Amino acid sequence: MQSNLSIIILAAGAGTRMKSTLPKVLHKISGKEMLYYSIEEAKKLSDDIHVVLYHQADLVQGTMEKYFDDVTYHIQDHEKYPGTGGAVMGITPHHEKVLVLNGDMPLIEADELKQLTSNEHSPEARDLKLTMSVLDLKCADGYGRVIIEKGKVTKIIEQKDCSSYELDITIANAGIYCFNTDFLLENLPKLSNDNAQKEYYITDLVEIAVKDNHSIKPVYVKEENFKGVNSKYDLAQAEVIHQNRIKEQFLKAGIAMRLPETIYIEYGVTIEGETILENGVTLLGNSKICNSHIKTNSIVEDSILENSEIGPMARIRPLSILKDTHIGNFVEIKKSNLTGVKAGHLAYLGDSTIDEGTNVGAGTITCNYDGVHKYKTIIGKNVFIGSDTQLVAPVTIEDNSMIAAGSTITNDIKSGDLALSRTKQKTVTGFFHRFFKDKK
Ligand code: UD1
Ligand code: MG
Repeated sequence: MQSNLSIIILAAGAGTRMKSTLPKVLHKISGKEMLYYSIEEAKKLSDDIHVVLYHQADLVQGTMEKYFDDVTYHIQDHEKYPGTGGAVMGITPHHEKVLVLNGDMPLIEADELKQLTSNEHSPEARDLKLTMSVLDLKCADGYGRVIIEKGKVTKIIEQKDCSSYELDITIANAGIYCFNTDFLLENLPKLSNDNAQKEYYITDLVEIAVKDNHSIKPVYVKEENFKGVNSKYDLAQAEVIHQNRIKEQFLKAGIAMRLPETIYIEYGVTIEGETILENGVTLLGNSKICNSHIKTNSIVEDSILENSEIGPMARIRPLSILKDTHIGNFVEIKKSNLTGVKAGHLAYLGDSTIDEGTNVGAGTITCNYDGVHKYKTIIGKNVFIGSDTQLVAPVTIEDNSMIAAGSTITNDIKSGDLALSRTKQKTVTGFFHRFFKDKK
């Protein structure tokens, strides 16, 4: 935490290049909105965080308030002052320095931002009015170009304002700036909207600083951390980088992954112990996985797995807890608590509790929904459930009981009992030959 630093996050833009009705900063990467990451990292550096909103401001603010309760939201006067410069107008940061972040940079990390905010020890620090992040790219398409003359930054030109010569420049503005707060507040009124987009650009403060002989410090940063997301293409690329970071962390912590590039793990998932993830595994929400083996193409969402084995192609839906359990292929579990259970093939177990030693046969279905309400199925210890059983909830199956294959169970079953509800088999001797005699 830096006591002399305020942070402004720009999140008012519509994000037209996303071609979506959802505001840009609410598009997700690894399960969380892009703006979530900017705020989370900002909070590691400052106690004075301002987020600027305009387009669908209520939706953006409401979404962020689910995660953060100590952020100040501002509504940009977008009609009169559109643009990244307009976004900062009217905000009074509490501290001496202010870091301005774009809300569409989900890959930034607080540690990387420190390069821009801690200049205390450099000789020119006292006179430093602006530190800016710069990218040295192969292709700077989409970014503002940084003009450097005699080794010094002199201005930033937005892509839409570039001449064909300027378009070839590959030094780009990464979009993060650390201003001396007094300099920012004094000079914002000098911005004009005389440009291709008729907007007030924060980037024009560079030229203003140069004209007043203030020093500007460029800090070269990696695109991997400072990538701006403007389109769905950028979003997909940023997510790949973010996913690689998540997986690298788990791999280094001792989690085994088969073909890691095919595995998707949302931010918020925890994985511990001797866990193996096979190819195509998807882990979502706040799932917690410990000492488990998740086989090919299985999905776990907001659930807990301990000492369990699932898949291939199993789906564990939210609020399930599996301990010491074996789940096989094409089994769907929802909001269920399974301890020491085997469900090897083709089953739906929803709103249920199933206890130790119980075997769930192929094709078992908990009929938990009557079209209006959901009901629970309680299954005790050492129950043998025959294949193709329907358990019509609410229903309780006590310990040490059996259900014959093909049964529809509508009444509770007592301990020690066998329940059987299928019709008796009838055999008609020689029927095949009589039936097909003339036809085959
Ligand atoms: C901006 C920079 C560009 C830089 C790039 C880096 C300007 C003028 N250009 O361009 O030099 O290379 O970032 O990614 O600053 N926003 C508002 N209010 C507005 C407009 C935008 O809050 O009126 C917010 C957006 O929500 C977004 C951020 O500012 O989070 C950046 O806006 P965007 O339109 O993406 O700017 P770029 O064209 O990417
Ligand atoms: Mg952008």
